Amino acid sequence: SEALRVGIAGLGTVGASVARVLTEKAAELTRQCGRPILVTAVSARSKGRDRGVDLSGAVWFDDPVEMARTADIDVFIELIGGDEGPARESVRVALENGRHVVTANKALLAKHGLALAGIAEEKGVLLNYEAAVAGGIPVIKTMRESMAGNTVSRIFGILNGTCNYILTRMEAEGISFQDCLADAQRLGYAEADPTFDIEGNDTAHKLSILTSLAFGTEIAADDIYLEGISNITQADIRAASDLGYRIKLLGVALRTESGIEQRVHPTMVPTASVIAQVNGVTNAVAIETDILGELLLSGPGAGGNATASAVVGDIADIAKSRPGFQHGPVFGRPVTELAPYTRAK
Ligand code: HSE
Repeated sequence: SEALRVGIAGLGTVGASVARVLTEKAAELTRQCGRPILVTAVSARSKGRDRGVDLSGAVWFDDPVEMARTADIDVFIELIGGDEGPARESVRVALENGRHVVTANKALLAKHGLALAGIAEEKGVLLNYEAAVAGGIPVIKTMRESMAGNTVSRIFGILNGTCNYILTRMEAEGISFQDCLADAQRLGYAEADPTFDIEGNDTAHKLSILTSLAFGTEIAADDIYLEGISNITQADIRAASDLGYRIKLLGVALRTESGIEQRVHPTMVPTASVIAQVNGVTNAVAIETDILGELLLSGPGAGGNATASAVVGDIADIAKSRPGFQHGPVFGRPVTELAPYTRAK
């Protein structure tokens, strides 16, 4: 049936990975969604750069806002980054023009998420953002869909892959903070401005989104107590270890008698605890509720492919929903597309 046409704005680490996955997994995605997903428009700063994917079939736009307004697309994928400028304006224009939006931009959502969601709701289009929190971990879907009816008492987690990678290697290998950060940048984990990682802002952006989902409150990123890891030394890590602890940068939100408390800071966690075993670029989110009890999700929290996986999942959700069949196929792909089962010998 009719293809879903998508436009990708931003072809950095994540954008290039998304373009590659949509191209290389086109056949599998078509089977799963019951229709093809085509990249019909792209926009990025430099046109010439080799990104390991052939985008010559897509219309090139120098200006993402122009693409959001005029391109022949059903879905606008914002992977530019930044909470103002072209990212904010292009998402706003895309929604105003009745296009669905998929974004990985936690800074944008932390600051303007409510206003943008208001436009999406008014226009009757989707604003999907699974990739904005904890990379490839499906925490947004879990909270929005699977945990309905639960009352959350506390949510906390390791939400920044760069910081966890740095702390893990500082402890395990005795490598300096600066060398670990340089490696995290080289591996495509860090933000364009890594200050956002190491000073905790990125964790705060993600926490503010989770807090809103957990407690049904407005997003309040400015309300978060904030302390990063840039002052953590080898001596701190050694001292914690001698006492039976590891240092992790945690984001925490909980319900108190006087309201919701949110904070981000380096935390000593017992070495034997589950959260202490979450190492490297891996993220983890712990959610405590009245019905479900305690849930822990963990998985890759940063990097091109892991983040692209969540972006592509959001696009596929849109591809599967169509008039008269809003929620997509019962078993994840149309029954007619299910392969015959072959029992293992
Ligand atoms: N810089 C972020 C991190 C990327 O290290 O977690 C994923 O949001």
